[in-house]
Amino acid sequence: MSENVSSLLYIVAGVLFIMALRGLSHPTTSRQGNLYGMVGMGLAILTTLVGHPPAGFGAWILVLLGLGIGGGAGAVIAKRVPMTAMPQLVAAFHSLVGLAAVFVAAGALYAPQAFGIIENGHFHKQSLFEMGLGVAIGAITFTGSVIAFAKLDGRMSGKPIMLPQRHLINALLAAGLVLLIALFIGTESKAIFWLIVIAALVLGGLIIIPIGGADMPVVVSMLNSYSGWAAAGIGFTLGNLALIITGSLVGSSGAILSYIMCHAMNRSFISVILGGFGGDTAAAGTGQVETRPVKQGSADDAAYIMKNAERVIIVPGYGMAVAQAQHSLREMADMLKKEGVDVKYAIHPVAGRMPGHMNVLLAEANVPYDEVFELEDINGEFPQADVAFVIGANDVTNPAAKTDKASPIYGMPILDVEKAKTVLFIKRGMGSGYAGVENEVFFRDNTMMLFGDAKKVVDSILKSL
Ligand code: TAP
Repeated sequence: MSENVSSLLYIVAGVLFIMALRGLSHPTTSRQGNLYGMVGMGLAILTTLVGHPPAGFGAWILVLLGLGIGGGAGAVIAKRVPMTAMPQLVAAFHSLVGLAAVFVAAGALYAPQAFGIIENGHFHKQSLFEMGLGVAIGAITFTGSVIAFAKLDGRMSGKPIMLPQRHLINALLAAGLVLLIALFIGTESKAIFWLIVIAALVLGGLIIIPIGGADMPVVVSMLNSYSGWAAAGIGFTLGNLALIITGSLVGSSGAILSYIMCHAMNRSFISVILGGFGGDTAAAGTGQVETRPVKQGSADDAAYIMKNAERVIIVPGYGMAVAQAQHSLREMADMLKKEGVDVKYAIHPVAGRMPGHMNVLLAEANVPYDEVFELEDINGEFPQADVAFVIGANDVTNPAAKTDKASPIYGMPILDVEKAKTVLFIKRGMGSGYAGVENEVFFRDNTMMLFGDAKKVVDSILKSL
């Protein structure tokens, strides 16, 4: 296959990836988006294998083994992983992209002829720069993602760990990395290459360790962006157009998503990139239990109140995902609609544990899209609502975000559920949410707590209805 044809096919794959991203931006088109992505990836792999076939039988076996083992493991993991564990899975996958960038750069350094990046015994300067930068971003992504995985998976405390002088240390390490890359380009030294790897591995860990659990969604998205740039770096080293396009798409879309999430959580994007933002106050999941009295109700009470309401706004959160209550919830909403109640769903941008978490679950339960509203489109409607039905959500309804400057969620826009005539809170007990802070709304006069597993409570309400 000529270079022109393979370049053209790579561009077609790139267009398919862009269509995939476009499709994935809405639940109605997301399956189609996934399909475009799969076809694009298939085309890119085939073009690479036909355009630059592995040299010899042994190399073919290695490539096929890699595809089989990697593809097989990916398929099994994707089938088995519960939706609630998706963020840590994404973090784990990002770590592999980072590690791949390190290995490819090392491969290029030790076998430069295979990559065509050496002439008269000297590396091309541009290739040295790509290798140095790619390996640095890859190693940062690797340890950063491993720490994010450990925190999200509960293998490491979600609490921010404040290292003394961390900003100074990070700045020195970053400056050291720039210096090492410059030295590497000048000397082509393998020892300096590995020093870059070590410094970047340490920096990746140090950037993520101080970040508190409540800020983890932005971290995962930011690492997504880093892994994209690392892949683009590999693309330059390998001279592979498809990798450059894909890496840039992942890098830029991850950066845009990070920016959107920072905006939703009212965090500064620059401080996220530098690491340790909001960490001085953030604390994840302390699970504190409150002893003040609250008004408690039963499923019958809830059914009665909602049947007689005109407008009900449902606010789903992480607890709905854990209980897998979305199907029962949709049935409950259908029944209420039959009774003439106007039912809407309000989605907070960081409800649950990953971007779009609630949208995916509601779509799975066939909730009509026109009943699902984003925060800015529905927040003004709570004062006119008779009932705010909060199911497994907590932090995203906490008014401390508006008033308490010391709170780790201060500044995050929240859903104004307390403005509804009645607030029904479904949760198992008085446990705090992800950010580990108390929610004043539990103790308000217009709040009724319905204690129990979200699915069981909704099933009981269904029976009463
Ligand atoms: P949270 O504030 O985490 O609250 C979830 C609540 O659900 C808990 O208070 C818990 O109370 C309850 N719960 C747990 N299991 C339940 C079950 N089986 N049945 C009923 N209730 C159950 O959730 P949220 O309001 O969705 O807020 C999301 C938080 O996660 C934010 O702080 C956000 O920053 C963070 N975060 C978000 C993401 C993304 S991108 N969405 C990623 C990582 C972190 P009980 O223990 O009393 O039942």
